Amino acid sequence: MSHPNVRVFENPQQLAEAAAEVFAKETARSIRETGRFAVALAGGSTPKRTYELLATEYGEKDLDWGKVHIFFGDERTVPPNHEDSNYLMAHEVLLSHIRVGSTHRMRGELDSWEAAALYEEELVGFFGGPPRFDLILLGIGEDGHTASLFPRTPALGARDRWVVENRVEKLGTLRLTLTVPAINAARKVIFLVAGEGKAEALKEILECHADPYDYPAKLIRPASGPVWMADRTAALLLD
Ligand code: 6PG
Repeated sequence: MSHPNVRVFENPQQLAEAAAEVFAKETARSIRETGRFAVALAGGSTPKRTYELLATEYGEKDLDWGKVHIFFGDERTVPPNHEDSNYLMAHEVLLSHIRVGSTHRMRGELDSWEAAALYEEELVGFFGGPPRFDLILLGIGEDGHTASLFPRTPALGARDRWVVENRVEKLGTLRLTLTVPAINAARKVIFLVAGEGKAEALKEILECHADPYDYPAKLIRPASGPVWMADRTAALLLD
């Protein structure tokens, strides 16, 4: 089974180089068309190399960073200086190296219900209504989760919210996450997937008929279907 929306790369470095190039092209296109680029970054480890390349290979001469507005797809319920913070990772490898138009962090240090409500207000204030990101970067976990939309967790059913807290029993924690509607409203959604540990989940998501509530990344169906960028080991089981 061929997948028109799946691009496979030899290794994580080539995946990161291609992802940085797509990010830059999407930024230029969006700024040309609307005067700005609103992007939600993924957390975790996979996108880190892409962010590093954006910081080192795409300076002011290549990319109008002043018109880029940075958001996050999800966040852990920790302060911004905590080692688990998605914001901290992005700040260290990207945001502390370039001057962006604005950065909108999910405030993991607050009560999670309050932090979700505040972020929702911030999104509506920025977009002047329902959020419509120009690009959302996502990863997937080995369990098929994406952002902090974990299998069989309450957030999967949120349809009238843009941002919610999500109780993740198996991690014994609360997370903050964009909801399925908020992600699916984006102009473009790109999944970055690397490592053989993701191969089973990727096959389930792309080729099998598993329940989307068991593989939440299957719920991500923006108008222009998500783009998948994977390294060879993650794509190993795809037909
Ligand atoms: C997070 C991410 C999460 C991540 C996947 C993959 O907060 O951890 O938003 O959805 O994208 O868990 O993580 P890795 O890239 O570290 O494998």
